[in-house]
Amino acid sequence: MNKIVEKYAELPKPIRRPLWRLWHNMISSFDKGQSAVFMNYGYASENGEFENLNLKPEDEADRYSIQLYDHVAGSDELKDKDVLEVGCGRGGGASFLARYYLPKSYIGLDISKKTTDFCNNYYKAKGLKFIKGHAELLPFEDSSIDTVVNVESARVYGNIPKFFKEVYRVLKPEGKFHFADMIKPKDIDTINEQLAEAGFKLVKKKNIRENVVCALKLDTNYRKERIQEGVPKFLHKSFYQFAGVEGSERYDAFDKSRIDYWSYKFTK
Ligand SMILES: C[S@@+](CC[C@H](N)C(=O)[O-])C[C@H]1O[C@@H](n2cnc3c(N)ncnc32)[C@H](O)[C@@H]1O
Repeated sequence: MNKIVEKYAELPKPIRRPLWRLWHNMISSFDKGQSAVFMNYGYASENGEFENLNLKPEDEADRYSIQLYDHVAGSDELKDKDVLEVGCGRGGGASFLARYYLPKSYIGLDISKKTTDFCNNYYKAKGLKFIKGHAELLPFEDSSIDTVVNVESARVYGNIPKFFKEVYRVLKPEGKFHFADMIKPKDIDTINEQLAEAGFKLVKKKNIRENVVCALKLDTNYRKERIQEGVPKFLHKSFYQFAGVEGSERYDAFDKSRIDYWSYKFTK
């Protein structure tokens, strides 16, 4: 199981779907307190980048995952805009951006209905809703969205260039695309070419691998405690791998630069 989690993104597509469904179902059934609302590796910085990010007490436990969203997409420019997040998972990032940056509407889309049902029941922020959908076939009209957000999701899509083209299609002229994911060094040129071919203009890009490692280091004890509380013992190692805790192969891959983590800002 541990190896499957590690190599998940490289497995053939027909195997990935049922496995991901199984994984989602396990997270839902283990998360009795309904507190697992993020599925990303987080972001931390030692240069005061988040000095002014004053979180509400109930959000503090998720600070590093929230900081990843804040780094990738947090901006006053979201105010009164129509935002779409593709691959929103259990909605923690959508809820954070909707509550702190007040877009007019924020739609979280995910391929897992179980996840979007959970989100629609769990969150009650103004303008925030969740729909089941596929990243490669976005159910929106051309030029209808101001900003698209995509965090730690695209690497498992069957056809990433199709996803980038779909994002470009649904964005309004001058619309923004905020994108972040882990990417192997050998794949980075291809991803950059695919983004350029879709038509995006690059505003900013940064390899945030060190920030991700820093967050995982700071968050390891908390992540382990939550896994030990909710997950049966025989699955601990697989969940440690999924959560990237210190000592896991995933952590080591980030730490030793076998995987990078890039964040991008584009305009249409
Ligand atoms: C690692 S989780 C990250 C979730 C969230 N962005 C976060 O940071 O907490 C990746 C999410 O992408 C979703 N996903 C995978 N393939 C998808 C697709 N083709 N279309 C839409 N969502 C997809 C998964 O169901 C999962 O919820």
